[in-house]
Amino acid sequence: MAETANILNLAPGPDTATTFPVLKGHATWTALAVPPDGITFAREEGRLPVEEFQDVIRRSDLNRPVDDAPRLAAMLAHANLLVTARDSSGRLIGVARSLTDFAYCCYLSDLCVDDAWQGRGIGRALVAETKRIVGPNSMVLLLSAAKPMTYYPRIGMETVQNGFIIRREG
Ligand SMILES: CC(C)(COP(=O)(O)OP(=O)(O)OC[C@H]1O[C@@H](n2cnc3c(N)ncnc32)[C@H](O)[C@@H]1OP(=O)(O)O)[C@@H](O)C(=O)NCCC(=O)NCCS
Repeated sequence: MAETANILNLAPGPDTATTFPVLKGHATWTALAVPPDGITFAREEGRLPVEEFQDVIRRSDLNRPVDDAPRLAAMLAHANLLVTARDSSGRLIGVARSLTDFAYCCYLSDLCVDDAWQGRGIGRALVAETKRIVGPNSMVLLLSAAKPMTYYPRIGMETVQNGFIIRREG
């Protein structure tokens, strides 16, 4: 097991029988930044129409202020990394929206995949593509909603205990 972990560049969690390995290293994540067959990834910061963003949020059940178009428009206008996933017809089926300096830090604020496309590796590839773009010297940090708390460790992200927050109102 230790040998396999070395080959795959994995760092085993505290209990490999019950936890998934943390994926270590930029190259490891970059190798996963490949959309499934028939899906196209693109960077669309500054040009994604708010209606499309609104629509994919609705189709994925991501908890965001989906009926507040001006607020969603501001979220899009100020995000400097927006990776989109589109199907072969060009329909938007996934989004990873981040704020980053491309040098040290990246906050992945919104990750969602259309219900009809979930479970095919699009979410994991969107996270990996975000990491690939921000580069080896930048972290990718996110806050999980309650339901995907088991998802992020499943795809190889590390749980951190040293986070602090000032919460938004509304
Ligand atoms: C969370 C979300 C982005 C995951 O996207 P996805 O494309 O369905 O996920 P993937 O297909 O990449 O899943 C990768 C693996 O994790 C597993 N997985 C999916 N959701 C999971 C969950 N909630 N808990 C544990 N594992 C999960 C998949 O089965 C898959 O396993 P496999 O490698 O054995 O096939 C998507 O379910 C979603 O949009 N949810 C609603 C919005 C949301 O909650 N966003 C996150 C806010 S923090």
